[in-house]
Amino acid sequence: MNQASACAPIQVRIELGERSYPILIGGGLLDQAQTFAGLPRASQALIVTNTTVAPLYAQRLQAVLQAQYGRVHVVALPDGEEYKDWQTLNQIFDALLAQACDRKTVLFALGGGVVGDMTGFAAASYMRGVPFVQVPTTLLAQVDSSVGGKTAINHPLGKNMIGAFYQPQRVVCDLDTLKTLPERELSAGLAEVIKYGPIADMALLDWLEQNMQALRAREPAALAHAVRRSCEIKALVVGQDERESGLRAILNFGHTFGHAIEAGLGYGHWLHGEGVGCGMVMAATLSQRLGLVDAAFVQRLRVLIEQAGLPVVGPQLDAQDNAGRYLALMRVDKKAEAGEIRFVVIEKPGQAGVRGAPDALVREVIDACCLRQ
Ligand code: NAD
Ligand code: GLY
Repeated sequence: MNQASACAPIQVRIELGERSYPILIGGGLLDQAQTFAGLPRASQALIVTNTTVAPLYAQRLQAVLQAQYGRVHVVALPDGEEYKDWQTLNQIFDALLAQACDRKTVLFALGGGVVGDMTGFAAASYMRGVPFVQVPTTLLAQVDSSVGGKTAINHPLGKNMIGAFYQPQRVVCDLDTLKTLPERELSAGLAEVIKYGPIADMALLDWLEQNMQALRAREPAALAHAVRRSCEIKALVVGQDERESGLRAILNFGHTFGHAIEAGLGYGHWLHGEGVGCGMVMAATLSQRLGLVDAAFVQRLRVLIEQAGLPVVGPQLDAQDNAGRYLALMRVDKKAEAGEIRFVVIEKPGQAGVRGAPDALVREVIDACCLRQ
């Protein structure tokens, strides 16, 4: 029996005053009218998805939403991180304007983090803001990107550089959609699950060590626990620091190195989660060299990341000066202040902080963690 389908949805709440919303987690949610009850009323809705996810799930979502909205349109964007840009974003505005969608129109982001981030940004700016709902269909999007209201597109010079904080009305994590997710994408999502352990919850890290096989086998109960615990931790952090004036930055553990890898190789070569997985090994190594954690902790994390099917050795980004290239890319990171790179480090197992580090030390870390020529 498919346990995820049999369970009533789990609810996790993001508490942000009048912008609070629920995250629904369970099986078979996509087909239930109840899942979408109580959303803002409108005469039209637009499902934003991509060319891979549309044939799998768009019709089902469209059918269930039709009972609630007079007209439900679908726009399928090209698939890939390399399309998370202005030109593709504009396709959403084209669809909205072509259908004369008004300012009450509700947008539904059906897909992974790329679709979610772009739909959220479109919702934040179309007619200065329309409501939107996240319907994440990748593990990464269910445990991280659909929650918390960060929306963005990439710029060739830096990832997620153009965007807005804009909260969805609801997040619907239908665990059954993960059945069609390619293996590599499942692993990428596991990177963001693992992240929550060293920064906030060592019990989660213990649990992941025990359950990695079950997660990779997509056992519904294991997936439900991983999504729920990840969303609970993210909800706690976002509830305290919605716009990342401090605490929320810890959710970027591994991302400073990871974003450099993604941008340095060209978006779409390494998946975001792969960059984060490898980036966590690098950030943990930096934490060790800063005297914050021991080698055993770094090794424990490295083994878990590898068991998740993720790379743990960084790629060469430049044959002449690899570390210099990483440093240059990391200076464009959003956490950088006056040109100084700020890293999320593990202060002690289960607790993270943000610090600068001398370039020479960071170079040592990059040399130690990357492929040799
Ligand atoms: P993605 O959106 O590119 O999806 C991965 C791939 O899986 C795509 O090819 C997609 O078409 C396919 N796919 C999606 N659902 C599927 C399904 N159920 N079955 C089969 N195939 C499916 O990548 P992602 O890993 O979901 O998200 C990465 C993006 O999220 C990055 O752009 C990253 O910057 C962003 N992100 C944002 C936040 C945030 O807080 N907003 C947090 C983390 C990551
Ligand atoms: N994924 C990091 C954040 O939401 O802040």
